[in-house]
This record gives sequence, structure tokens and C-alpha cells, in this order.
Amino acid sequence: MSSSNTEGWSSRVGLILAMVGNSVGLGSFLRFPVQAIQNGGGSFIIPYLVCFLLMGIPLLYVEWAMGRFGGKYGHHSAPFILDSMSKYGFWKYLGAFGIFTNLAVAAYYCYLESWTLGYIWHSVAGTFNGQTRDEVANFFTNYTSLSDNQPIIFWIICLVLNTWILSRGLKGIEQVAKISIPLLFLFGIILAIRGLTLQPGSSNVLYAGTDGLNHLWSLNFSTIWSPKVWLAAAAQVFFTLSVGIGSIQCYSAYLRSNDDVALNAMSAGSLSLFAAICLGTGIVIPISVGYFGVEGMLDLVAKGDSWGLGFRTLPFLFQQWGPSLAIAASVMWFGLLFFAGITSSLAMGTPCMAFMQDEFGWKRPHAAWAFGATVAVLGLPTVLYFNYGVFDEYDHWAGTVSLVIFAFVEIILFAWIFGMKKGWAEITRGADIKVPIIFRYIIQYVTPVILGWVLFSSMPANWDKIMNTGLHAQIAEATDPAVIDHLKKTILYQNTARIGLLAIWVGVASVVYVAYRKRMREGRFTH
Ligand code: ALA
Repeated sequence: MSSSNTEGWSSRVGLILAMVGNSVGLGSFLRFPVQAIQNGGGSFIIPYLVCFLLMGIPLLYVEWAMGRFGGKYGHHSAPFILDSMSKYGFWKYLGAFGIFTNLAVAAYYCYLESWTLGYIWHSVAGTFNGQTRDEVANFFTNYTSLSDNQPIIFWIICLVLNTWILSRGLKGIEQVAKISIPLLFLFGIILAIRGLTLQPGSSNVLYAGTDGLNHLWSLNFSTIWSPKVWLAAAAQVFFTLSVGIGSIQCYSAYLRSNDDVALNAMSAGSLSLFAAICLGTGIVIPISVGYFGVEGMLDLVAKGDSWGLGFRTLPFLFQQWGPSLAIAASVMWFGLLFFAGITSSLAMGTPCMAFMQDEFGWKRPHAAWAFGATVAVLGLPTVLYFNYGVFDEYDHWAGTVSLVIFAFVEIILFAWIFGMKKGWAEITRGADIKVPIIFRYIIQYVTPVILGWVLFSSMPANWDKIMNTGLHAQIAEATDPAVIDHLKKTILYQNTARIGLLAIWVGVASVVYVAYRKRMREGRFTH
């Protein structure tokens, strides 16, 4: 059987923009500021930068190099890329993480992405005009409670759009990235300038926008050594860079064997860092602080979830700039979120499609629509049971824990099984920059040790989560029967979501087994 999957990137600019789009996502603009505030502001940024340097950059090099290596043998997704790097067959099953994570993250991520379409619609339609801060915040609660069918309609539009672009292959992804990424940065820079120049006295501004940044960058030595903060920082670095997901390897597998990976990885990584540090913290935090003050913002973050702050507050704050500017700012903000989201969800679709194309000879459109349908089925519980924490459950297990596990698997395989001598040669072959030799040792020793520590020290918290310890404690304290009922249902739905996620992983690993048997029957070896 010959693979139909013989595409390549049409230009380096297209590849880099697609890769930047893969990394820069809703995680940079929505999750990053909330994580930074929840974990103590200045005590989060330092661990974040350290994790970026000691885990983010090394893993970027590793994933780009692994992808290009696997691509040489016609593999474009994690299971058989990993398989081609060792003589032991079990690695391909660990590679199932590189398909599972994409499917499970896309399942909730596309729903999140669709909120941005809903909010653009409502901003232009003037829904937020004259609403109070509480009304805007309640709008978000009603939206995610499915008080009408609109969120489902926007979700379906979003899924169809993703699927249609994916069915057009790398060409479609490159075209979307070439339009979306420049606009995203343009909108982001305009909004960040506006946020950072807010001064008390004008349009109901109470505090300077820069007070928000001062809070974020003031070092707090009492929490900087907390393992919880380091775990949150590491998980955020992985999520923002899309490392440990399996999508970078897939994009890189479409490179030619002597194409540069070192400079490409650095360029995409730096733009992604810029988006998170400058734009991620330069919009939501200064604007919220300008109107609510640091205490007001902390209060909002404490009450909310990881993703909602930018939806619950900004439409109200933009209203303070007058009706026309409010529409322009909302379209820019939710537009940039949509661009950030879609370029990341497209990257999640590509490895899943590539696997079916490589292993079962599926045509691209067939693979794309199968991906869209699977994401719809897997995502439906996150839409229907959002208020019972199913969305957050997917985000935790697929969007956080699974990334760290897969990153650990990859670094061990690359540095210790494939071997650092061959690994370093892969990273530096065709390189357009001189990669500092220190990274060879960081990849071999430092990254695996820190990753191992992150995994190990997160076990107690994950075990508490599995046992629903926090929810049981809330039930014990609650007196209102409605609250108790809600908490009990939350436990039921969250347990079901966990079992469902496990079943997806087992399902993916089983398909990898079927693909392997097929290869054996056809005498197609992995390397
Ligand atoms: N890297 C993507 C994001 O940050 C998944 O949203």
C-alpha cells in the first residue's frame, strides 16, 4: 500500500507561520494570564521562564528533530515516529499519546474556540451595550449553561470550518496561517498598547494599566519555591508551546531531511514566548486592573475558571471606550482569539489525519471529516456538561497531565534510547544557526530530571483529583440540597469523563496495534 500522504510545506514562511499558529493559541491569551495571577504573579513568571529555557526549548528541538527523522521513513504521527527511533516495539504504544492528546484536547478546545465566534456575533449585534459588569459576567454563565441553542450552532460552525480547512491539506493550513498570524499579532499589539496606556481619570479608568504589570512582575519570594507553582508553570509552558501534544512532530515530518530544524524551532518558540509574555499579559491584566484595580482583578480570578476571565470581563470593559471603539476592540480581541484558536486546532487535526493516511491509505478529505466527526462526538460531553466540570476534566487530564507524560516519554527515548550522539546530529543537521552545545547536556540530563520531578510531585494532587477529595469535602460542608445534588452529579460526570478519556487512549492504542499488524502483513517495516 502506498501512502497518499506525500505533501510538503510550500515555503519556509508558511511552515513557520503554521508552527507559530500551532503554538500560539488560546492558552497564551486566556490561560496564561489567569495561571500567572493564580500562582502569585511574579512568583509564576520566573518559574515559567526557567521551565521555558530548561524544558520548553529543549523539547522544541527534540520534537522538531524527531518529526523530521520520522518523516524520512514516511511517518507523520507520533506512534510510528517513536517506533522508528528504537528497536523495541512498545514505544509505538506510548506514541499513542501523540494521537490521543490531539483528539481529546481538540474535543474541548474547539468548543472554547467557538465561544469567540459567539462573542464576535454578540459584540457586533450590540448585546453588551449598556450592560453592567455583572450582566456581562452572567452572560458568560448563561452562554455556557446553554440557555439557548446558539453555543451549539457556533460550535458546529467551528467544527465544520476546521474540518473543511483540514480537508485542503497543508496548503489550506498555510493559507490560514499567513492571514491569521499577522492579524493576530497586529490586533494583540494594538490592544496591549491600549491596555498599557490606560491612565486614571479617562473613560472611568481608576488605575493605571501598568499597575497590573507591576503586580505580575513583583517577585514574591514566599511562594516562588512552591512545587504547585512550578507544576503550573511547566504545564503552562507545554500547553502554550504545544510540546507533548504530538502536533509539532507531525508538522516537522513534512520537512525534507536536510531542512533546518534548529532555527525554525527557535523562531517559532520565540514568537510564541512573545505572544504569551507580552500579549498574553499585556491585554487582559492591564485592562482588568485599569478598571477594577489589582484587588478587584484578583477577586475575579479567584472566583473564576482558567479560561473564562477574558470573556467575563473584557466585553464590559470595552464598553467604557464608547460604542464604536467597543465594537472595534471586541472584534479585535475575539478575532485574535479565534485566529489563535483555529491555527492550534488545525494542528491538532493534522497528526490524527496523517496517521489514518499513512497507515490505512485514507484520502485527506476522508481523514479530515472523520477527525471532525470524532471531535464532535468526544466534545459533546464538554458542551452539555460544562457546568459539571467535564470541560475542566478534559483540560486537566488531556491538556495538562498527558502532555507532561508524553514529553517525559519523548525525552527519554530521544536522549537515552535513540542516543544523544545521534540525537544531537539530528538537531544540528542542516541547521541555519549554531545550536549552543549546552543544550546537548540540558536535553540529556536536565530536562529528563525536571520532567521526572514534575511528574512525580504531581502524583498526590492527581490522586486527590481521582478520589474527588475536594468535592467530597464540599459535600460534607454543604447544607443546601440543590448544592449537594449538583456536587454529586459533578462527581458522576467527572468520573465518567475520566473513564471515557481512558477508553479513548485504549482505543487509539488498539488502532496502533491494528496498524502494526497490517504493516507486518504487508511487509512494511517502520525503519
Ligand atoms: N498551544 C496551544 C495553545 O496555547 C494549544 O492554545
